[in-house]
Amino acid sequence: NTKGFIFDLDGVIVDTAKYHYLSWKQLANELGFDITLTQNEQLKGVSRVRSLEIILGWGNKTLSEEAFEKYMAEKNENYLSHIAQMDEGEILPDVPKILNYLQEKQQGIALGSASKNARTILQKVNLFENFQAIADGNNVSKAKPDPEVFLLAAKQLNIKPSDCIVFEDAVAGVTAANAAGMISIGIGSKETLGHADYIFNDFTEIQTSFIDELINR
Ligand code: BG6
Ligand code: MG
Repeated sequence: NTKGFIFDLDGVIVDTAKYHYLSWKQLANELGFDITLTQNEQLKGVSRVRSLEIILGWGNKTLSEEAFEKYMAEKNENYLSHIAQMDEGEILPDVPKILNYLQEKQQGIALGSASKNARTILQKVNLFENFQAIADGNNVSKAKPDPEVFLLAAKQLNIKPSDCIVFEDAVAGVTAANAAGMISIGIGSKETLGHADYIFNDFTEIQTSFIDELINR
């Protein structure tokens, strides 16, 4: 019995939301306004382009196409300076335990992330070798909640979507997994991820017996 287990990256494997936030906040400050942590919730799982559009909306700003590109590049440079400091210590609790268990059970393991920096981050935290397939912001044209990134991950694993299970922390990501016809597992709070098939606060709450159930269903 082989299932495909697809992991989102930011907020599931590592907590990079804090770095995205710092970088977006700095950019907003340059433009003369601020963004709050509550607003940052709405940026989780959202593509880089869409994030900047949303932020500009909050600040009531419009930018020329050229300036938009410039700010996107600037944000990413700033973000990369944070990522540069990352190491294995940033892997969220019990993620390696689950990855190792899935490997032991010879399951398909893929990444399904909106980030164009996904490979860099996996390398920084030394998890790159754990993934058989990587679908990320460089491979897709439609961002979550569109299911494209997860469907691509399933295709790379050569496992049909209905045999795939997605771990997601973002509202848009759970919606995308559901739209792909996959089982969605929300990592976070019941308040925001109520549309997921299962919800856990983090991987420490996920027992290997639950993984067995998913493999055998
Ligand atoms: C998502 C993050 O995984 O990737 C978003 O949750 C981020 O916050 C998006 O904007 C795009 O990431 P990147 O690294 O390509 O700017
Ligand atoms: Mg995420």
